[in-house]
Amino acid sequence: MNRHYRKTIIAGNWKMHKTASETVAFAAEIRGKMPENIRSEVVLCMPALNITTAQKALKGTRIAVGAETMHYEEKGAFTGEVAANMLTDLGVKYVIIGHSERRQYYNETDQSVNRKVRAALNAGLVPIVCVGESLAQREMGVTAELLAYQVMSALSGVSARELRRVVIAYEPIWAIGTGKTATAEQAQEVCEGIRTLLRKKYDARAARAVSILYGGSMNARNAAELLAMPDIDGGLIGGASLVPGDFVQIIEASRQED
Ligand code: PGA
Repeated sequence: MNRHYRKTIIAGNWKMHKTASETVAFAAEIRGKMPENIRSEVVLCMPALNITTAQKALKGTRIAVGAETMHYEEKGAFTGEVAANMLTDLGVKYVIIGHSERRQYYNETDQSVNRKVRAALNAGLVPIVCVGESLAQREMGVTAELLAYQVMSALSGVSARELRRVVIAYEPIWAIGTGKTATAEQAQEVCEGIRTLLRKKYDARAARAVSILYGGSMNARNAAELLAMPDIDGGLIGGASLVPGDFVQIIEASRQED
């Protein structure tokens, strides 16, 4: 990470885990464990249903509460969906967009991801845009090309000014929930590639201000090594964010350059 130019962000992705009561219990436990004076931004993204409960339970802890998805339309007949201004009205800042599980199970495409990114930015949210290759794609040797395509299409129509509010999360699909982490070198190579791409599409100043996170089996043991890489500015953490002690250790690992 490089705190000189950009924020370090430790983001949890709770996916479809924890009831409201379990959320309150988590908050009570992590409250006493949170390190003092951390400079990283810490956010827990969770099902929209539990956001208000979590905000109340985490008040005063420095842990913000984010969302896991949103719709690209401002409002309308979209049963079951959540609009950007429903999130901002609650004081939410971060929303995950285009997680590979959303792409796989809910037919999110590069095109709908782009619409969501633009809708999030228009509403004043910070999208955490997820990109990443499958194992088959990595083995075919098309990771760089695929990532370039995903990043460029997600950011189509996004200005350099807006880019300052975008966070990108590189999440190799083969590393998500599998216990198989990308090596720090593999993750750095891709994250550096993404920044180079941003430099070409925008300019050096815009590119160096974007926080690029790594996600995929990040845990208390491997976080420090990944976060020490110059182009990895934080983590998007699934499983390990569900356990207060584990999540706190990752937050601790992010203070290495404090
Ligand atoms: P994991 O999930 O940390 O459990 O691998 C990461 C993610 O899907 O964002």
